[in-house]
Amino acid sequence: MPSVTIQPDGIRTDTREGETVLQALSRSGYGFRVGCRRGGCGICKADLLDGEVDYPVAVSDTTLTDGERATGACLPCRAVPRGDITIQLRDDKLRCCSTLLASIYGADSTKGSC
Ligand code: FES
Repeated sequence: MPSVTIQPDGIRTDTREGETVLQALSRSGYGFRVGCRRGGCGICKADLLDGEVDYPVAVSDTTLTDGERATGACLPCRAVPRGDITIQLRDDKLRCCSTLLASIYGADSTKGSC
């Protein structure tokens, strides 16, 4: 299973087959600032520092332009990792919403705030 590491916190979790970055983080007890969750608003936009992602469900070309994709921008609400990836959040930090889920799924619950 591909892993997702979120900077600046350094929190890492695994994804399941076909799972988006946002779904993997939510399942693991973490959250960050999102809006539509459908690839339309751009509020979740982050920077892909390492690895590649797919968009099995299309996102708006105006929300994530080809130029932004080329420079590493991604939409975690729709992005599905192709392999291990590292993402840098923009103007936000990952929040631990459930220490129980974080401990079950192996993410480091000592990072991020609950
Ligand atoms: S939450 Fe709207 S584009 Fe990701």
